[in-house]
Amino acid sequence: MDLHSTYPGISDLKQRAKRRLPHFVWEYIDSGTGAETTIHRNRDALDQIRFPPSILHGALEFDTSARVLGHDYPLPFGIAPIGMSGLVWPDAEGILARAAADSGIPYTLSTVAGQCPEDLAPHLGDNAWFQLYPPKDPEIRSDLLNRAWQSGFRTLVLTADVPVASRRERQTRSGLTHPPQMTPRLMAQIALRPAWALGMLRYGVPHMRTLDKYIDDSQNLPPTAHIGYLLRTSPDMDYVKWLRDHWNGPFVVKGILRPEDADRLEQAGIDALWVSNHGGRQFDAAPASIEALPAIRAVTNLPLIFDSGVASGLDVLRALSKGADFVMLGRAFLYGIAALGARGPAHVIDILRQDMLANMGQMGIATLAQFPSGQSNN
Ligand code: FNR
Ligand code: LAC
Repeated sequence: MDLHSTYPGISDLKQRAKRRLPHFVWEYIDSGTGAETTIHRNRDALDQIRFPPSILHGALEFDTSARVLGHDYPLPFGIAPIGMSGLVWPDAEGILARAAADSGIPYTLSTVAGQCPEDLAPHLGDNAWFQLYPPKDPEIRSDLLNRAWQSGFRTLVLTADVPVASRRERQTRSGLTHPPQMTPRLMAQIALRPAWALGMLRYGVPHMRTLDKYIDDSQNLPPTAHIGYLLRTSPDMDYVKWLRDHWNGPFVVKGILRPEDADRLEQAGIDALWVSNHGGRQFDAAPASIEALPAIRAVTNLPLIFDSGVASGLDVLRALSKGADFVMLGRAFLYGIAALGARGPAHVIDILRQDMLANMGQMGIATLAQFPSGQSNN
């Protein structure tokens, strides 16, 4: 079956994902915080970016490669970190890591994913990034960095936009708790989704494996309390500087929306900034990431990684046109996996690539360095 004829766009994968996932899992991946205005703002602001089509430019030889953080990538996008990705599909982390390695794009493993750095070591290419939710305890912090490095992760990403846990009303309404508790209500949702249920039976219900080794059973607290205790610290600049001094590879800070943060992070020796509103999951009054991007671009020469709301190759081009050097996607890859299992991520990558090429042809650009400035109307 040609996947492109059945699922030509990310939206087709999204529809199928919704049909294949238990309701609470769907709500977990698809929802945002509050009234979800930030999710809509991300979409609306991307749609506002328009380009007058180029004509009579002759045949173009397209080159979609991009260079960031000392690496040449065949495509200018990669996979953003996803907590509890194993809940979306069994072995989601392995599937995503292998697909990324096969395509030569970066895969970012979340601190709170279902698999740990050591699990993924055999599947990583040389483009693996590790996303850190900051542990409080200095020994745990050092140990975690060491484990990530030893497992082959070379780029460290500190997520800075979760100073406190956000409220996710849709998630709560669906009956999902942290960690997921198998209540009759969730069981009823699972019973309606046999493919997902069989997969989970084979692989077991996922949990945050990276943190297992730090959970001290003697304290007799529920697992959420442990994880809250381990990670719920709001880091400061001293924490950032400590990480800078103790990580030998590229170091990225994720969740930047203010230009003034660019300056102090640049001075602290950070290698790239990740402009993001966490896909609308943290703060419902945040600007659209794409709105925040130009002002940050204007004040720094650091590489800028961008995410939030990217759902097509055209969106990737829109972000690049506003000054991003690289683009990451979260939900698009989750929709792909939930819809098509192990074949999903490669198909997502292919959709994005083909959509980029079609739109580069319209824009009359052969390479990603060629965005004429001021071309967009936004
Ligand atoms: C996330 N995101 C996220 N970010 C992070 O730094 N650590 C994490 O563990 C997670 N977990 C997570 C779970 C789920 C289900 C989603 C959808 C997102 C945010 C993610 O890395 C990225 O910033 C957004 O997903 C980008 O927006 P789009 O592409 O989903 O619109
Ligand atoms: C989320 C957290 C895990 O977005 O970052 O769900």
